Amino acid sequence: MGDYVSITKDTLVEKTKIGCDLYLKSYINGAPKYVLFCRGNEQFESERREELLEKNVQRLFILSKDYKEYFKYQEKNLPQIISNSNLSTQEKSHAVYHVAKNITKDILKDARTGVNVKRVENWVKYTVSYILNDKNAFAGLLNVTSYDYYTYTHSVNLSVFGLLFGKHLFLTPDDLNAFGTGMLLHDIGKIEIPLEIINKPGKLTKDEFETIKKHPETGVAFLKAKNIKEKSLIPVIQHHENYDGTGYPYEIGGNEIDIFGKLSRIIDVYDAITTKRSYANAMRPFAALKVMKEKMISCFDVELFQEFICFLGPTDPRKHTRSGDLVPLVS
Ligand SMILES: [Fe+2]
Ligand SMILES: [Fe+2]
Repeated sequence: MGDYVSITKDTLVEKTKIGCDLYLKSYINGAPKYVLFCRGNEQFESERREELLEKNVQRLFILSKDYKEYFKYQEKNLPQIISNSNLSTQEKSHAVYHVAKNITKDILKDARTGVNVKRVENWVKYTVSYILNDKNAFAGLLNVTSYDYYTYTHSVNLSVFGLLFGKHLFLTPDDLNAFGTGMLLHDIGKIEIPLEIINKPGKLTKDEFETIKKHPETGVAFLKAKNIKEKSLIPVIQHHENYDGTGYPYEIGGNEIDIFGKLSRIIDVYDAITTKRSYANAMRPFAALKVMKEKMISCFDVELFQEFICFLGPTDPRKHTRSGDLVPLVS
């Protein structure tokens, strides 16, 4: 018998196949027992939902090994999940975030053989509608963004932050779609970089840094043939360009950098230093913004950076203390 994880009944959509077996939990002499409720290849009919309502069941269980299958199911039914008024903001945001994590993991695994841009674009489309139509989405999504740094969580964080900040800046829905897609894929070229270099704690050698510097162009090369919007490629190619022209790969500066490039630079740095990496603890938002302002300001468009501070305002949950956080380093 494997481990079970709970899911809420409201993520189940009638007349669909869930793709993994569903269980109910009961107690026999105080010991939990999981009883098969619906097979993954069976259609989930309305009678089954009524049965759950009659029994007053809120949560069902799946085997933890089936979680991936369940994420795929949520990906397929994301529009229904987002518009379901029975689901809390937390549950919706959780689904949105974990579906994106799953898509990004798959893409990073298979980028060499082909990137499924359509999956990313669909996720962005539904997330944009969630953000534009639900006033609680902002707090809900910021709450679920991960504090642990992996390329896939960092990519999803960037897309979520990018969409929320983009909405704050009144980007059009079309621009939000293009930007969110580019942000999710911005570091895809990193799969060509050996992990020892990505996770290296100390200073990089010149050669190692040259290898790192290739990832924006490698990313674009992965995506070019994929029928992706030109605009979505901007965060991929420009997220390391600095406002003062000291960035890479093209060392462009000022208004040669597109607004998508400028935004991605700010958000990329912010997410990297406020999450826990293999070689560094997370910095709290105030300290991070202070470092960005005092030590890195020449990298950013100042107006956008100030707007970013207003956007985070009092709402970023990362401001709460967590174990292992770095104390502010600057006076
Ligand atoms: Fe990058
Ligand atoms: Fe990045």
